[in-house]
Amino acid sequence: MSRNVRDEINNKLSIVDVVGKYLTLKRAGTRYTGLCPFHNEKTPSFSVTPDSNLFYCFGCHKGGTIFDFIMEIENMDFSEALKYLAEKAGVELDNNYSGSDSSDRKKQDALKELYKRVSGSFEYILRNRDEAEIARQYLKKRGLTEEIMDEFKIGWAPEDRTWILNFLKTKGYSEDFLKESGLFSQKGLGYPLFSGRVMFPLTNYNNEIIGFSGRTLRDFGPKYINSPETLIFHKKRNLYGLSNSIKSIRDKGYFILCEGQMDVIAYHQAGVKNAVAPLGTAYTEEQATVMKRYADKAVISFDGDSAGQKAVQKAVIICEKKNIRTKIARFYEGEDPADLLLNKGEKALHKVLKSTINSFDYILENAINLSDIDSPEGKEEVIHRMRDYIGSLDSEVRREGCLNEIAGRLGVDYSSVHKDITRAQKTNEYNRTEKTTQIQRNSISSELFLMIAVVVNRENFSYVRSRIEMDDLIDDNAKKIYIALEECFRNDEAGLDSVLNRLEDTELTSLIAEKITSEEYSINSDELIKDSVRRIKKNSLLKKREEIVKKLKEIPINNNTLVNETELLSEKIYIDDEIKKLRSGI
Ligand code: UTP
Ligand code: MN
Repeated sequence: MSRNVRDEINNKLSIVDVVGKYLTLKRAGTRYTGLCPFHNEKTPSFSVTPDSNLFYCFGCHKGGTIFDFIMEIENMDFSEALKYLAEKAGVELDNNYSGSDSSDRKKQDALKELYKRVSGSFEYILRNRDEAEIARQYLKKRGLTEEIMDEFKIGWAPEDRTWILNFLKTKGYSEDFLKESGLFSQKGLGYPLFSGRVMFPLTNYNNEIIGFSGRTLRDFGPKYINSPETLIFHKKRNLYGLSNSIKSIRDKGYFILCEGQMDVIAYHQAGVKNAVAPLGTAYTEEQATVMKRYADKAVISFDGDSAGQKAVQKAVIICEKKNIRTKIARFYEGEDPADLLLNKGEKALHKVLKSTINSFDYILENAINLSDIDSPEGKEEVIHRMRDYIGSLDSEVRREGCLNEIAGRLGVDYSSVHKDITRAQKTNEYNRTEKTTQIQRNSISSELFLMIAVVVNRENFSYVRSRIEMDDLIDDNAKKIYIALEECFRNDEAGLDSVLNRLEDTELTSLIAEKITSEEYSINSDELIKDSVRRIKKNSLLKKREEIVKKLKEIPINNNTLVNETELLSEKIYIDDEIKKLRSGI
């Protein structure tokens, strides 16, 4: 596997452009600074350095390369980030190139191929087989058109529970592979997950099929069964309908968040092509991160019942935490977008979208309806219900506006509301948590110090490796960097990125990014490095000397193995000599 693609991408893209898409950067000398996208802050402590193509946040200590940045902010794994950035850089990726373990990559590709094939068969069966008549009738009754069924690749899994295994065996798939495919129950290949169900393929952002949701037509058993987690399917991160919606979401600047796949399909059928839904789970922060890629506004479109109301509030808070502004589409209790489309037609659905209401008003209205606001206890309850929402707001101005409104509605002072909310938030420990890292930032060993200085000033490595060997180092992190530098040296790779990617240690990468950004290693670097080399070499020699002296002492007086003693003595003389040289600064 070549690392050159990675270097090539890194050389073609400036970190300023990559990061600049997500936040406003201001020039500050050789660096650019801005508000950190990874934690909540009012003054900028996030910094990018075009010279090294690295980012670092002095607040939350995240840092690294453009790949690390994209992985973090887009919630992608390495190979996804690589693909994404390769496209931006106009670099073509080899088919067999992979950022992750290549056997994993092969398995992922094999799974995608499997799902595509199975999905194609389900589609064929729905359209052509007699046994699927019941499903065709059902979908017709629910108002789905042929076009929409094609667009969403809807299918039918046969009732016959032996069908899928037999089918796949004839296609040459091994049992071991099928066991891990997510198409069968844990109990074994005799238990397919999907049979006698209408099948909704789940796709990733790239329109590749990664799983299924299957709906029963019976009155018992789970209504929907969803694929389990596999190498290619991650419930928390994917959304139903995303690949069908990306273009429209970008055009319109917002997405519609629904509860389920039938709602997504209903919107699309009504010509509203920017609707997505979580996949058999509650809406997650990871999904919000993914959606933030495409738009920073959303309309939440859930069922109007009380469970729906709670879910709306949660979804609003998750969106706000990722700086996605939300509005609420309102439905009658027990009615969802799919029902509305079927019962009242396209126009009714469009009308709902035209009369969305502000999230704050919606949440406050619900909080007030649930409490008796004429009593002091009721007022307090309202404040408690509003706590998480207020806490999720990123803007002081909006927060103040909301508090003012709450005070007005409850007929109390602004300052009392402010105090109570602040207190409630403290006791709830609600905040956007900042992670601190494990490496003690102010007690870096002299070895680690040296190795970081060499990463920053790479031209010094040939000097360092001629003086210091791996064995001279005790600090594990310093050793890791030494190995990475040595590998790059041998492969003639000069890029900073090539060292950092070899480390595969986010803490260490962040630490290096910090040191580079703070420029504390750039001044007098040659002197710093020479001094450290001397000190480390001396310590290592002293340690070896101590061991020799100890061994010499252990040699019995009537010893005949003179050879050993002579060897040790000459070794000691050599070491003493080296130490003397180091002391006199040669
Ligand atoms: P609903 O029960 O509201 O279903 O669940 P629905 O979307 O209205 O479906 P229809 O109209 O009855 O066909 C909302 C979503 O929750 C998930 C599905 O994604 C569903 O779309 N769900 C529901 C499951 O994953 N499993 C279930 O058993 C039920
Ligand atoms: Mn429904």
